[in-house]
Amino acid sequence: MCGIVAYIGHQDAFPLIIKGLKRLEYRGYDSTGISVHDNGLKIFKKAGKVAELESSVEELTIKASVGIGHTRWATHGEPNDRNAHPHFSADKSLSIIHNGIIENYDTIKKELLSKGYTFQSDTDTEVLITFIEDIKKQNGGDLEQAVRSALHAIEGAYAIVILNEENPNQLIAARKGSPMVLGVGTDEYFIASDATPIIEYTNEVVYLKDREIAIVNREDFRITNIDDVEQTPYIQKVEMKLEELEKGGYEHFMLKEIFEQPNSIADSMRGRLDAANGTLTLGGIYEYSQALINARRIIVLACGTSWHSGLVAEYLFEEYCRIPVEVEYASEFRYRNPVIHEGDIVIAISQSGETADTLAAIELAKSKGAIILGIVNVVGSSISRVTHEGAYLHTGPEIGVASTKAFTGQLSVLTMIALSVAHKKGTITQTRYKELLVELARIPAKIKEVLDNNAVVEEIAERFKDAKNFIYLGRGYNFPVALEGALKLKEISYIHAEGYPAAEMKHGPIALIDEEMPVVFIATRDSSYDKVVSNIQEVKARKGVVIAVVTKGDALIPALADYIIEVPPCEEALMPLISVIPLQLLSYHIAVMRGCNVDQPRNLAKSVTVE
Ligand code: G6P
Repeated sequence: MCGIVAYIGHQDAFPLIIKGLKRLEYRGYDSTGISVHDNGLKIFKKAGKVAELESSVEELTIKASVGIGHTRWATHGEPNDRNAHPHFSADKSLSIIHNGIIENYDTIKKELLSKGYTFQSDTDTEVLITFIEDIKKQNGGDLEQAVRSALHAIEGAYAIVILNEENPNQLIAARKGSPMVLGVGTDEYFIASDATPIIEYTNEVVYLKDREIAIVNREDFRITNIDDVEQTPYIQKVEMKLEELEKGGYEHFMLKEIFEQPNSIADSMRGRLDAANGTLTLGGIYEYSQALINARRIIVLACGTSWHSGLVAEYLFEEYCRIPVEVEYASEFRYRNPVIHEGDIVIAISQSGETADTLAAIELAKSKGAIILGIVNVVGSSISRVTHEGAYLHTGPEIGVASTKAFTGQLSVLTMIALSVAHKKGTITQTRYKELLVELARIPAKIKEVLDNNAVVEEIAERFKDAKNFIYLGRGYNFPVALEGALKLKEISYIHAEGYPAAEMKHGPIALIDEEMPVVFIATRDSSYDKVVSNIQEVKARKGVVIAVVTKGDALIPALADYIIEVPPCEEALMPLISVIPLQLLSYHIAVMRGCNVDQPRNLAKSVTVE
């Protein structure tokens, strides 16, 4: 959470940083601030979105070619003007932006208070910069050394950038646990939480490693580790197009991303799936492919929507590869002394590649000898760098906080991996393998067909936009889809929603059903179809209102349900790729009709870099 941007060079820093912060707003958006060096250090900050800061500052009066900016997702202290970043040190000679958490800030704060320092905010960040100021005063004014000493003393995660009153020609940045990218231009440098604010100016970047410090001057930069040992920076090219970061005529990023899915799924398969010749090539999983084939079990680690795609993977790997799978919330796994054997396969799934719990769970599994395969969207992200091997989604940047195209991208990649393993292992017949590959290749067209049904979903949304609760039910492969449908709805429309395996309804949720309760059944034609029909009847018998996602041509469920959404017929194992689409649209339309901020729902962030 929190987005940071910094700039040093020959351009006008303030508008450049504002633009960068807008690109990073998905990471947190409860307050914003910028500090520049304009005849001395200045800070402009405010609770609220970047646009609010922008309109409150008369930027023409600011003349700066160096600055730092921050968009915040509050951890310490409520989101208000005072707690917004950047923060000054006590004597206002330094300013700082910080993404992360300083866990031992309280002890340091007490020490500083006893020395007579006072604080203007409730944040851990102000404590850190004051701590640095204090060390600097004692060491004869060497800021770089003071930063190093302070970082040695703190516990927690950070991506920080510091601006110094005495030296308008330098930025000092450091990271541990939180992401940081340095953009290398011609006589100008950019620092940001990800490459999105940078690519407009340069595609050459350095991903800072944990415990590295960058000293960035106007003409050059150098990187050292926390112990002052010089590091050789690895400059790489990012391949990201500017258009991918714009809304492209859609009202919201989420809608754009939902409608992008026929293409994003095709992109995830490009160069990997060759249905005509019956081959799958997953270049990213090569060295460890035999270990995966021989795996006695697979542990999936993920959070949120990615955890839901992990559940679908469990069905796939167990059915086709005959490998037992445990799907774990990364946050629970890391704290419960899990049993991990040397050579266990861990599949870590993360859109952002930065989720703190997933990252920590990976480190734990890795330390016990597990082989970590990453399924990640953001190229160069922290998770992609700590895994042994993996496969990127290639679905392009996902900006809407509620994940849509990344979910289907994850399903697509996980399906390809499962089928490839099954094929090599001989746990699937050649005919079945080919059938599934052909079906996989048809998914983009089938999703397109569902999207063409958008108006039907919109009408249903209109009818239910004022509901207080929703239940989502599905069985088999459609059970994780029920969970995902419920999550999407509560995330962006703030309607309470629960997802359940349809048969579990009888063990609790059935007590909630009355004529006020919409129940969404994901009831496509599959091996549990008859059972789901019985579940629908049970709901109808209690006067529940049924919205059913059904396979085109089904006559039975439409006769029972109050509202139906048709999707094209599809292989059961691949159905989640299709059946989730109307649920994404339903939550989107309901949220828009309720006047909610669809792309930036309250209290949420896209990249959860705190545990
Ligand atoms: C946040 C996002 C979700 C996402 C989850 C896991 O909660 O709002 O959309 O599913 O984090 O994120 P990851 O980047 O690891 O997939």
